[in-house]
Amino acid sequence: MAVPLIFRSSVMVCGASMCGIVGYIGDKNARTILVEGLKSLEYRGYDSAGFAVFSADGRLELCKTEGKISALEKKAAGLTGHYTCGIAHTRWATHGAATEVNAHPHISSDGRIVLVHNGIIENYVNLRRLLEAEGVVFRSETDTEVLAQLVAKFYEPGRLVEAVTSALKSVQGTYGIAVMATDMPGTIVGARNGSPLVVGIGEGTWCLASDKSALPAEVSKLFYLEDTELVCLDDDGYRTMSLENVEIRKEVLEFQYEIEHADKNGYPHYMLKEIFEQPRTIADCFRGRILPEQGMVKLGGLAAIEDRLRDFSRIVITACGTSWHAALVGEYLIEELAGIPVEVEYASEFRYRNPVIGPETLVLVISQSGETADTLAALREAKMRGATVAGIVNVTGSTIARESGCGIYIHAGPEKSVASTKAFTSQVTALALIALRLARMSKMSGSQGMSFIQELMRLPEKMERVLEQASAIRALADEFKGQSNCLYLGRGFHFPVALEGALKLKEVSYIHAEGYPAAEMKHGPIALIEKGMPVVVVAPRYGVYEKVISNIEEIRARKGRVIAIATEGDESIRRHADVVFHVPDVIEPLSPLLTVVPLQLLAYYITVAKGLDPDMPRNLAKSVTVE
Ligand code: G6P
Repeated sequence: MAVPLIFRSSVMVCGASMCGIVGYIGDKNARTILVEGLKSLEYRGYDSAGFAVFSADGRLELCKTEGKISALEKKAAGLTGHYTCGIAHTRWATHGAATEVNAHPHISSDGRIVLVHNGIIENYVNLRRLLEAEGVVFRSETDTEVLAQLVAKFYEPGRLVEAVTSALKSVQGTYGIAVMATDMPGTIVGARNGSPLVVGIGEGTWCLASDKSALPAEVSKLFYLEDTELVCLDDDGYRTMSLENVEIRKEVLEFQYEIEHADKNGYPHYMLKEIFEQPRTIADCFRGRILPEQGMVKLGGLAAIEDRLRDFSRIVITACGTSWHAALVGEYLIEELAGIPVEVEYASEFRYRNPVIGPETLVLVISQSGETADTLAALREAKMRGATVAGIVNVTGSTIARESGCGIYIHAGPEKSVASTKAFTSQVTALALIALRLARMSKMSGSQGMSFIQELMRLPEKMERVLEQASAIRALADEFKGQSNCLYLGRGFHFPVALEGALKLKEVSYIHAEGYPAAEMKHGPIALIEKGMPVVVVAPRYGVYEKVISNIEEIRARKGRVIAIATEGDESIRRHADVVFHVPDVIEPLSPLLTVVPLQLLAYYITVAKGLDPDMPRNLAKSVTVE
């Protein structure tokens, strides 16, 4: 029987929500497999972590800690037994402290149910009140504990699936969960609504995880749970069912375990490694897709809508964070090259507005991870309104990639650093390919297409030349590290670059930074400029160059310190700027791919100079899986 709902709480307090979960049954030591799995999910949060494992004789061990997976691994070293089944969790708290008590797994007060959860139980205040009235004692401040207590309320020995379905019928919100009962060692029940869950199967191995990167090497097949589906794993195999406990047959896919190229390859941090990978990753994005002799591109992922590309009268691009900045570059690219009107929307706004879209609109959804909750919701909203949706995604098989229907993988490889760098340049590259494709259907000639592709092909080598300036940029970092404010300015194609440069700096160094269109500075930010304040101006030599020089003079008149990003050969800019970094000349639509690189390096080196960890900045997560 479901708990009656008195009201739907709008308060979301102390959630334990945006997280990664893993579950494992098999012959290997579950403790090790789970901790390794969590390491792959650390991008989903890293403020606390924990696991619960059964030993072969059915004893349950719980291990939880504040901090990163490395802290959990250290603590877990004391558990020397052989464990054959368990569930684990890495947390990114939405509200409430990242404490050991709030870390998952949560155990019901009667000690019978153990549970990990990714998502938010929106009506948890109400449910908690009802359960407390029945005498249930809560230990943590999380929404998740409500689920554990609720499953325990419905639990009858040996009937875990029934207890989980009964509990889930009472909850509102999102969840990806893994649940065990202490008197059923060797059984895990998983369920999904809104938060992804993949089930992996191998020889004597059954597991589940928030994404396939956390599955162990023994897995050879997998399937994805859809919303409101459950799975029950035990030594006999797996069963999938609906919330009504009706059996569901799933399509099982082959899975090739890949050892991620996730070591730092000699670099001190992933962020620096990924910045330096960019000449290769942008080439990986256009390789096999360009037809240099025809001045054309072939985008297999868009084949399904190839015939209709001509019919779209407008394009909406939606994304979050750095992907949103790539979208802005995409707007300039598509409008400039193809002349099709483009609007760029924050996915979080798009989903709650009343966007004017319909069958005439192509909606491009950009996401590195393919799991960002707001972007996924925007995708679903666009589909619901009849738009055609195409994804620009890095992680293959991710939810956004699967739900888009068609699109382009950017092939940037695993991006580990929380601050996105190589994904940005690959997203812009993918957008350049789409812009070229659309342009060649209308106003761009074959020869113009050919020279565009030639420019694209020369970019990796030009990017290498930008990277050669790393030590000069590093030399500037010490000077910056004591600053508390910084301004980034750019015009046209370089306005989004200024935004991205500012975002990089604040994300990793915690220095407040603002990106602005250079000319707009006069309408506000100029008030901030005082003696010595660093102002980074993206000023390559294109149409509005002279105007940007005037903006630089306005900064200098107020004694700001100007760091300019200029075109190779432009020495005269030294008369205006205090520090200059050069990027090779390239056609303007592709120039953001070069001008952004010094800004990435600047953010990285300043962070290191401050003694901070650029790979895992405080309060952030690589993939934001809650709204
Ligand atoms: C988080 C990350 C950002 C990223 C944004 C969008 O905020 O910290 O680096 O740009 O999410 O992520 P997505 O995976 O959808 O591109």
